[in-house]
Amino acid sequence: MRITVIGTGYLGAVHAAGMAELGHDVLGVDVDAGKIDRLTQGVAPFYEPGFPELLRANLDAGRLRFSTSLKEAAEFGEVHFICVGTPQRPGSTSADMKFVDAVIEGMAPHLHQPCLIVGKSTVPVGTAHRLSSMVAQLAPVGEQAEVAWNPEFLREGFAVNDTLHPDRLVVGVSSSEAEATLRAVYDRILEAGTPYIVTDVATAELVKVSANAFLATKISFINAISEVCEAAGADIIPLAKALGHDARIGNRFLAPGVGFGGGCLPKDIRAFLARAEELGVDESLAFLKNIDAINVNRRRSALTLARGMLGGSLSNKRIAVLGAAFKPNSDDVRDSPALSVANALQVQGADVRVHDPEAIENARAAYPLLNYTTDVQKTFEGSELVIHLTEWQEYRDLDPLHLSALVSAPHILDARNTLDIDLWRSAGWTVRAMGRPAR
Ligand code: UGA
Repeated sequence: MRITVIGTGYLGAVHAAGMAELGHDVLGVDVDAGKIDRLTQGVAPFYEPGFPELLRANLDAGRLRFSTSLKEAAEFGEVHFICVGTPQRPGSTSADMKFVDAVIEGMAPHLHQPCLIVGKSTVPVGTAHRLSSMVAQLAPVGEQAEVAWNPEFLREGFAVNDTLHPDRLVVGVSSSEAEATLRAVYDRILEAGTPYIVTDVATAELVKVSANAFLATKISFINAISEVCEAAGADIIPLAKALGHDARIGNRFLAPGVGFGGGCLPKDIRAFLARAEELGVDESLAFLKNIDAINVNRRRSALTLARGMLGGSLSNKRIAVLGAAFKPNSDDVRDSPALSVANALQVQGADVRVHDPEAIENARAAYPLLNYTTDVQKTFEGSELVIHLTEWQEYRDLDPLHLSALVSAPHILDARNTLDIDLWRSAGWTVRAMGRPAR
C-alpha cells in the first residue's frame, strides 16, 4: 500500500521505517528540513536501538523516502498516519493540538482521492471527530477522506520491536471500509496472532490515555509507598518484590525511584484531566492530580536525601550526576527527572557534573548552564556525592572499588534502585537509596 507518515520524531520515524519493513511503499514527512535530510541519508536524528539498521535497510530497498511537502503526501498516500507531537500547551495542562491541526490544514486541501487519515498521536478524546469535520470542509474529496484512530503504545528504547511486534493493535473506525484498510496495512502483524481490537474512534483515543494513566498510577503508587517506607525505616525493594508476586498486581512498572518523566506520561495525565474537566467528569480523574504530585515530589525527595548526605548544605559541593536521559536506552531528555534534579542541585549552589552515554547533546540544549562530560570517570573525579538518576546498564557495570579512589568522598545516592548496593558498600561507599533504610 502507499502510506505516508507525517511527523518523523521518535514515533513517526520508526513507524515509517516499520511500515516499509512490512512491505509498504512509504513517504515520511516532516516540517524540519534538517531532519528530513538526515533521514534521507540514512542517518537517525535520535538515538533508538535498532532504528538506524531498519532505516537504512528500507531506504536501500527503495520502499522508504522522505519529504517536507504535505502536498506530495496528499497526492501519494492511500493511508496517512499522523504522528506529530501533542505537547503540553504553554501555561496550561491541556494538550497543544497545533501540530495535529496544522497537518490537516496543510494536507486536506490537496486530497483529491479517497483515502484514510489515521491518527497515532496521543490526543484528547473527541479529536478524531473534530478532525473529520475539518477534513470534510477542507478536502476536495470531502467525506471520502475518512479519519480513524490507531493509538501507538511503543516505548522509547524498544520502539523498533514495539512497532513490528506490538502486544496489541487498537483501531478506532467509523466504517467497515476503514477497518478493512487498517487490517490490510497490518496484515503481516496480524498473521502473527497479535490481539486486534476494533472500536469506535472515541474509545480508541481513550484507550491510549487510559493506558498511560494506569502506568503512571502504578509508578506513583509504589513511589508513594516508598515515601512511607522512608518515614517508617522500612525497605521498598523487598516490599515491591512481594507485591509483584501477586499475579493480579504483577511486578512490571513497579520500580520505585525518582519517578517518571519523558514526553508522554507526565503531559498525558495532565491533558487527560484537563479533558475530563471539559467533559464535566473531572471528579472521576481527580486522583491523577495526586499521581502527578507524588511524582514531582520524588524529585524533591532526591534533593532532600542528597542534602542530608552532604551534611545539610549543597553549597559548593562537588556532585556527580549519573544520567541525563529520562530513561535508559534513549537520548530523550523531555521532562527528565535526572536533569530536573541536576538543575535544582546547581541552583542551590552545588558544583554539578552530569554524565550520560547518549543524551548530552539534548541535555545541553535544554539546560545549557549545567556542566557535562561523556567520560564517566571524569564525572567521579573529586566528587563529594554521586547521584544515580538514569539506570543505564553502563552504571550497573561500574567498578565501585576503582571509583572510590577517584572521588573526594565515597558517597552515592541510588535514586533508581538498580545498583548492587551491597557491592558498593563492601567497596567502602556510603550508600543511600530511595525508599530504603540507611545503614
Ligand atoms: C510510555 C508508555 O510506556 C508507552 O506505552 C507509550 O506508548 C508512550 O509512553 C507514549 O505515550 O508514547 P515511554 O515514555 O517511552 O513510554 O517510557 P516508559 O518506559 O513508559 O517510562 C516512563 C518513565 O517512567 C521513565 O522516566 C521511567 O524511568 C519511569 N519508570 C518506569 C519508573 O520510574 N518506574 C517504573 O517501574 C517504570
